[in-house]
Amino acid sequence: MREIEVRSGALEGLDVDLVAVPARRELTDLLRELDGRLGGAIARCMEQGIFLGKSDEASFFPGPPGRPHLLLLGTGDTRLSDPAAIRGLAGRAVRLCRAKRLPSLALLLEDAPAEPPVFQAAAEGLLLGDYSFDALKRSEAGDSEGPATAVVWTAQPVVGASEASAVGFTVADAQNFARSLVAQPGNVAKPTRLAEEAEALSGRGVRFQAWDEEKLRQEGFGALLAVSKGSCEPPRFIILEHPGDGGPPLVLVGKGITFDSGGISLKPAKGMEEMKYDMAGAAAVLGAVRALAKIGVPRRVVALVPAAENLPSGRALKPGDVIRGLSGRSIEVVNTDAEGRLILSDALAYANRLSPAAVVDIATLTGGCVVALGKHASGLMSNDDALAGELVAAGERSGERAWRLPLWPEYRRQIDSEIADIKNSGGREASPITAGVFLQEFVDEVPWAHLDIAGTAWAEKESGWQPKGATGFGVRLLVEWARGLG
Ligand code: BES
Ligand code: MN
Ligand code: ZN
Repeated sequence: MREIEVRSGALEGLDVDLVAVPARRELTDLLRELDGRLGGAIARCMEQGIFLGKSDEASFFPGPPGRPHLLLLGTGDTRLSDPAAIRGLAGRAVRLCRAKRLPSLALLLEDAPAEPPVFQAAAEGLLLGDYSFDALKRSEAGDSEGPATAVVWTAQPVVGASEASAVGFTVADAQNFARSLVAQPGNVAKPTRLAEEAEALSGRGVRFQAWDEEKLRQEGFGALLAVSKGSCEPPRFIILEHPGDGGPPLVLVGKGITFDSGGISLKPAKGMEEMKYDMAGAAAVLGAVRALAKIGVPRRVVALVPAAENLPSGRALKPGDVIRGLSGRSIEVVNTDAEGRLILSDALAYANRLSPAAVVDIATLTGGCVVALGKHASGLMSNDDALAGELVAAGERSGERAWRLPLWPEYRRQIDSEIADIKNSGGREASPITAGVFLQEFVDEVPWAHLDIAGTAWAEKESGWQPKGATGFGVRLLVEWARGLG
């Protein structure tokens, strides 16, 4: 989709192929007007119970020649004041529009409250719903073409609506960028490719660096290098910065394991292909910087991405090895499949040097987090109640939820090592938490939070506007959080 326009006033001027209207089983003023053009078809459908207005329901009414088709979207009991409901409705509308290959649509929001977040959510839903990943498929004409333009319409003009819609467009566009990066298989989205993608986001004030192996050795990134050793793909450490006002930065750290076989602690074959998604944290922080720079937030924001491939080989890191990274701490690697926290430990140790206002890392870190929270929330751990509260709130507002888990000191004993300062796995019990406790060791006294997106980074099946596959989780949450800080 190229453009989303906010409009109000008479319906007559809406020159689109499809109008989508959220509805219950009752005629509103707007529906009565539309029904007039359709010769009473809507009223008949409602009377006969063909359209009940339930939340998963949709009814399509072909338009008379030269007039738009109509799509009624059942709202059930959901309230249109909830941005998540608007996002969902917009997403449903655009998916149907795609399926029917119609070039333009309008979402008519008659009863929605006159508040900017509604328009941000509408734009997000329109763009997020208009997404599929077919870069690697033979294209058949018009296959993945969605509508080129969309209109969000209200009867009365709303102050700030266009600006909010533009923000929504930018955020969702960045989320779609993240989705596509995550969706790329391991042989495409290699560490060097992540660096190229980040570089492509630089310019117009955004600064980029990518450190290669030699530089990483000089700087002492021993943990990132250790994880990367088993692979022929060289690692990278990516730094992407939106300078903003030049103050203490918000540092966003994203796990960039481009494929996680487990290493010598090899994973079972079943489902291993999903571990191409193990760089979803990296994609989220790159997407967030892309959006925040475009929006022009005043804050300085720095994304850090340690990127590597985790493979077994004759050169690979082994269980029992003791390594030392940038922090200087010795780490006993009892399980080479707990590689994410290793590469993150170097990135967090580096983040300390930037005198950050706050550090947030985001990572597909533990299978245990999927067991605990499923697909509906990410795990959140933090050393700072205020920061944790901000992230939970930003999660609610953006529709990307986070749920806090404790980091009580009692958990530290699970990662005590007999021969080193710490070990990289605390076993099955509370595995998301012991991973969080491990990361916390590498963070100085700054507000820090860790988001475990193992359950939310990709969808196992299609639902609503989210197709099966990469979700781009984290972009909306991080952008909402950073914007909320002013
Ligand atoms: N990338 C995985 C975590 C993961 C698993 C993400 C399933 C999404 C879905 C991570 O590197 C990993 O292997 N974690 C291990 C840690 C364990 C060895 C301590 C895990 O959670 O099983
Ligand atoms: Mn692993
Ligand atoms: Zn991993």
